[in-house]
Order: sequence, then C-alpha cells, then structure tokens
Amino acid sequence: MDWGMKNRLAQLFAKDGNCMFLPIDHGYFQGPTRKLEKPGNTVAPLMQYADGLFVTRGVLRNAIDPSTSAPVVLRVSGGSSVIGADLANEEITTSIAEIIRLNASAAGVSVFVGTDYERQSLMNLAKLVNECEDYGIPVMAVTAVGKELEKRDARYLALCCRIAAELGARVVKTYWCENFDKVVDGCPVPVIMAGGPKVEDKGVIEFVHDGMQRGAKGVNLGRNIWQHEHPVAMMRALRSIIHENAGIEQAWDLFNTLKNADLAK
Ligand code: 5RP
Repeated sequence: MDWGMKNRLAQLFAKDGNCMFLPIDHGYFQGPTRKLEKPGNTVAPLMQYADGLFVTRGVLRNAIDPSTSAPVVLRVSGGSSVIGADLANEEITTSIAEIIRLNASAAGVSVFVGTDYERQSLMNLAKLVNECEDYGIPVMAVTAVGKELEKRDARYLALCCRIAAELGARVVKTYWCENFDKVVDGCPVPVIMAGGPKVEDKGVIEFVHDGMQRGAKGVNLGRNIWQHEHPVAMMRALRSIIHENAGIEQAWDLFNTLKNADLAK
C-alpha cells in the first residue's frame, strides 16, 4: 500500500484500528431529513467526537467550516430520490478531480445487491475504485437496502460485503444484524456499522457493543445520534464502546451522566 493510501486510512482509523464516522449525507435522496435541516448547526457540537464526516460535496461546501480537522468521507453516488421510481438507480455524481479538490480522505458509494440495479451500482463501485486507487484514496462501499429494511440479515449482508471487498472497497459499511460475526468473517476489509432508523437509547448501545464484540471496526452512525435529544451524550457513549472498549452498562452510565448534566444546564 502506498504512503498516501496508508496516510488517509490512518486519518480515518485511530491507532486502535477503530473509527467513529458521523454520516450527514441523508439529504442526497431524502431532502431535509429531520434534525438535519441545517446540517452545519447539527454537527457543530459533534465534530470533535467524529473520526470522519460522511457528507456530499454540496453540504460540505455550504455548511461545514473548512478549518475543521475531521477527515471527510465524500459521498459520491446519487441520482435517485425517496419519491422516485427506484432508490437503487444511482450513478457516480462526483469526479475524481472534485474528490481531490475537496481534500477527501475517502470516497463513499452505495451498492444495491440483488436489485434491478445490482450491476450498475457494482460497476459504479469498481470504476470509482479504479480512479481513486490511482490517487491513494480509499473507497468505502455502502451496502444499501433502500426501503427494504427487512433484507438486513447476516446471509444477505455477508454476500454484499464480500462482493464490495472483492471489487476493491477498502472499507465496507453495512447494517448491524444478528450473528454479525458471519458478516465480518467473510469480509477481508474492515466492516463498519450504520445505525438505520432511530431505535430506543439502550438498544443502540447494545447493538453497537454486540457488533464490536463480533469484529466490526466501528460505526458510520447518523440518525441515532443527531436525531437524539441528547446527541453529544449518545455520541460519547458510543465512542466509549468503540475506542475505550466500554461494556454496555459502562456506556449506558456514561450516557445517563452526560444526559443528566445536559438537562441540569
Ligand atoms: C444514507 C447513508 C448513511 O450514511 C447511513 O445510512 C448511516 O446513517 P444512519 O445511521 O442514519 O442509518 O448511507 O445514505
């Protein structure tokens, strides 16, 4: 691996090999998602706890302070919307020149395995890898399920993650599921977990802990943090699992302590 690639990965993954990415890319197909109407305001108190920000070029340019030290994972696929015919019908939206100009530490693209657009989205990934590898930029594949959330089981996600890694993704983002070790064990590159729609507080802590115990290398988790009433408390509690090896009760106590301190203000 060349120095540039190693350096970018080292910016995104801490010395312990784990990462906590904060995704705010949801608007690229959902429009102004709840609590992300003004993304700059939403992330301001959270940036210091993020090892990377997953974001499109539009929001990056218009809402994120360029003096930030958080590395950027640039979302570079799109072209469909939540009210359109098929969310899987994506193409690459952003040129390699733009990825470099925006000083991205990585580029992210969705793949939709098992859909009518399987081939198109997998070729998006492969072509992006071809371009990014020339410049030492890692590609993160996102195993997307669109509106079919019920697809999130170990057999399906293991298939998606392995295919993404085979096509050259340096990191794969997928959903947590039961028996998550089956997903991780079949994938030769780091696997990180998305959150999905908001679940109850302890539920997030439990699934992140379970995924980390089963081999995940971190999270790319958005709505369960920034749609929370106490986003800093939630993010710091999850961070303690990812970077400090905290157990469920330890992280839960930290969450409640920070939440109560916030309420007392
Ligand atoms: C949406 C994405 C998000 O980055 C991903 O789903 C993580 O966010 P959340 O935890 O809210 O699901 O790829 O396009």
